[in-house]
Amino acid sequence: MIVYLNGKYLPREQAWISPEDRGFLFADGVYEVIHSYRGKLFHVDEHMRRLKNSLAGLKISYSNIPEIREAALRLIQENGLKEDATVYIQITRGTNFPRKHAFPPANTAVTVYVMAYPITPRDPERETGIPVITTPDLRWARCDIKSVALLPNVLAQQQAIDAGVTDAIFVRDSVALEGSASNFFAVIDNVVLTHPKTNVILPGITLDVVLELCRKNNIPHLEKPIYLNQLWTAQELFLSSTTMEVMPIVQVDGRSISGGKPGKVTRKLQTLFKEYVASLP
Ligand SMILES: Cc1ncc(COP(=O)(O)O)c(C=O)c1O
Repeated sequence: MIVYLNGKYLPREQAWISPEDRGFLFADGVYEVIHSYRGKLFHVDEHMRRLKNSLAGLKISYSNIPEIREAALRLIQENGLKEDATVYIQITRGTNFPRKHAFPPANTAVTVYVMAYPITPRDPERETGIPVITTPDLRWARCDIKSVALLPNVLAQQQAIDAGVTDAIFVRDSVALEGSASNFFAVIDNVVLTHPKTNVILPGITLDVVLELCRKNNIPHLEKPIYLNQLWTAQELFLSSTTMEVMPIVQVDGRSISGGKPGKVTRKLQTLFKEYVASLP
């Protein structure tokens, strides 16, 4: 496997960073995850826009987006990734010594890392739907920045696995916000609901695609908060993300949702999503 690190294409085993990298010391960095379908990057412009916003949010000076796009495409080629694959991009505020919280000198080089690897589509789970738990949202107030500081997300996903389910939904102030690595939707009174894109969720690229599919296909939809107590009577619940696409939820905290089976609207959106991906040049 060939990866990209600070201007060089290297075998993965030869890619090393300093232990003084601020990504390692402070989680001082941002990332992106892009799906590659048949060797083509999905909504790459949107991912690059979000990457720029994340960098701006953390005041990391880096604007060489063409470098990232080129590395992503070249790694897909070099690693022969003709089917489903993921491109992972991470940029940190670079290395400085001695360790100090405040930003390093302005001329400090950022660390740029890109890798690409095959993924197995989660078709079996998309067919049956997944069980989830709810968990208190312990994250900071800038969840709209795709920062590598993911400890609450790590703990939430492990809590789910320890509970014998697939994922966890973050709940803050009685509002079900999003999954540990996905956006969250409910179908209530035949309307597809998802949280407005504010500071308390990550503005998902897949979320936007789902809303656009709703719009184009006359499926009623609204961006508004989903309260925890609405989950038990919701017609359907589902998650969206780059790797999950549209993932039905069939159980929350041990309680069955939509009769324990993926709902009609979720199914429709799964089909529309597949058709949309297949239609891309
Ligand atoms: C917290 C969180 N919310 C939502 C998403 C979904 O975003 P996207 O559709 O861009 O993958 C992710 C993806 O990793 C995430 O980590």
